[in-house]
Amino acid sequence: MSRRKIIAGNWKMNKTPSEAVALVDELKDLVVNDAVDVVYCVPAIDIVPVVERVKGTNVSVGAENMYFEESGAYTGEISAAMLVDAGVKYVIIGHSERRDYFKEDDELLNKKVKKAFEAGLTPILCCGESLQQREDGVTTEWIRSQIKADLDGITADQVKTLVIAYEPIWAIGTGKTATSDQAEEVCKDIRDYICELYDADTAEKVRIQYGGSMNAGNAKELLAKPNIDGGLIGGASLKADFGQIVNYDK
Ligand code: PGA
Repeated sequence: MSRRKIIAGNWKMNKTPSEAVALVDELKDLVVNDAVDVVYCVPAIDIVPVVERVKGTNVSVGAENMYFEESGAYTGEISAAMLVDAGVKYVIIGHSERRDYFKEDDELLNKKVKKAFEAGLTPILCCGESLQQREDGVTTEWIRSQIKADLDGITADQVKTLVIAYEPIWAIGTGKTATSDQAEEVCKDIRDYICELYDADTAEKVRIQYGGSMNAGNAKELLAKPNIDGGLIGGASLKADFGQIVNYDK
């Protein structure tokens, strides 16, 4: 079975609504590739105009975060139902910037993953080790602990549709990409662990992205690896390079 590649941009806190629409227009013809799922994960305020602008194209829209409660007194938060109603299909959960700067822990992230699935969104669940953890040789153990906690109570059928993004923290925004062998090694271990937690069929179906300074120059080699099913791209998703990553197979 071959998994369909998924290339997602993570715009982070970049692009005002009018700049967002201009970027969608700039990338429109560059990101066409029938063999790949293409997603723009955009700031909350850009969701409505970007959904409108990608109508009729091959691009889906994702959110960069959401809250797990249904509705109510949670000033500043956005619910899964709001995202669905706005036309969002994916939601990034547990990006290392949210774990670090906003102190999101696995218990909270597990609630978000559950709520996303309940609402019909596809989570892009992020995991990854720090440089210290890599040097200490605890990468695998750490990532397994994140996945176990974040997927607590999630069914095999849900995991089959999940996207996991392996993002070594030391490679994010640093220009220091993991080598394709390093990335493949961890992505393969994540798949093996999904097989242990669930079963072989689930492990075969879950899509695992690599993220961390992926760019037009290194995407092809990373995406050629058997256990890397796509990319979560920050910096390079804000420019024409993103089109080259989407068309890595050309
Ligand atoms: P980067 O970011 O591509 O700029 O390293 C990736 C990410 O944080 O998702």
